[in-house]
Amino acid sequence: MILLGIETSCDETSAAVVKDGRHVLSNVIASQIEIHQKYGGVVPEIASRKHVEAIGCIVEEALFEADIKKEQIDGICVTYGPGLVGALLVGLSYGKALSFALKKPLIGVHHIEAHICANYLETEGEEPIKPPYICLVVSGGHTSLVLCQEYGKYKLLGQTKDDACGEAYDKVARALGLPYPGGPIIDKIAKEGDEKAIVFPQALINDGSFDFSFSGLKSAVLNTLNKAKMQGIELNKSDVAASFQKALIDVLEAKTKLACQKYNINRVALAGGVSSNSALRSRISNMCQKNGYTFKVPPTYFCTDNAAMVCACGYIMFEKGHRDGLFLNAVPNCPINID
Ligand code: KG4
Ligand code: ZN
Repeated sequence: MILLGIETSCDETSAAVVKDGRHVLSNVIASQIEIHQKYGGVVPEIASRKHVEAIGCIVEEALFEADIKKEQIDGICVTYGPGLVGALLVGLSYGKALSFALKKPLIGVHHIEAHICANYLETEGEEPIKPPYICLVVSGGHTSLVLCQEYGKYKLLGQTKDDACGEAYDKVARALGLPYPGGPIIDKIAKEGDEKAIVFPQALINDGSFDFSFSGLKSAVLNTLNKAKMQGIELNKSDVAASFQKALIDVLEAKTKLACQKYNINRVALAGGVSSNSALRSRISNMCQKNGYTFKVPPTYFCTDNAAMVCACGYIMFEKGHRDGLFLNAVPNCPINID
């Protein structure tokens, strides 16, 4: 089965062609990062306009690269939410128009579910993870712990009460004078820093819940930087980055381990843009190794926003008989689909 995927929830215009939900024939991504960089974050109105400019070419390129004609597609999977409403509407409208013109089924995909399903895409020498497993979803807009009970069936165990992980990375990076998006740069400079240099707070680490809170950590980093500035002290950016990252990853690791213990699950997956973080990948991988758990994380190019993951998710829905009509709307905030 050949599915075409479309993703425009934030600042990446992406289209992909995927066979049988796993084999990626093409995955084309046009990033707007350079445009948003000068504003220090994503400007929603600009994002929508850039999606409009790019979407047609990106879909054509994905079909060309996959060597697939429009008529050969069995269905169109498109992200309907959560995300920036104006950005979502571009991909969704394009997907609906294609579905109507080609008379092919439309499948609306939840962006966070798609991130989770990136773990089913084919990667060399690795088996896709099989449910049940615990998935730690860490992206720019979301942070949650999810129990994947079976394909397409989820139980939300907990989520952030304030900032998402990626948001904390981006805001801390900005305070350090580093460009957007901050995650990859903090990841890089933290490698040269001392993670014990500064002790930052770790909210809710031992409260037994699966909820997170990162706004206190972010504020503590900003306060430390401001205080040092006022005192004329120059802090080592790598030390700040490493200490911030340690505080954050300690919490993520503790809660993931607790979820495995509580639900008696021995498989763990990571998903979302922040799961491309090298320190997080190695910490969760080590934790799994120590406890005899299976560990899965998508390759970094499938962690950040892309349309291949939208196809992986849409395939499961398609196989279950899910179809959407032309009345499907963009939903900026929507909880993960819980059966
Ligand atoms: O999943 P994603 O591409 O978009 C959303 O759905 O939000 O995630 C983007 C987020 C950004 O906040 C970015 O800073 C973060 O992922 N990110 C990282 C890394 N690469 C991307 N955070 C930490 N370390 C990285 N290597
Ligand atoms: Zn995302």
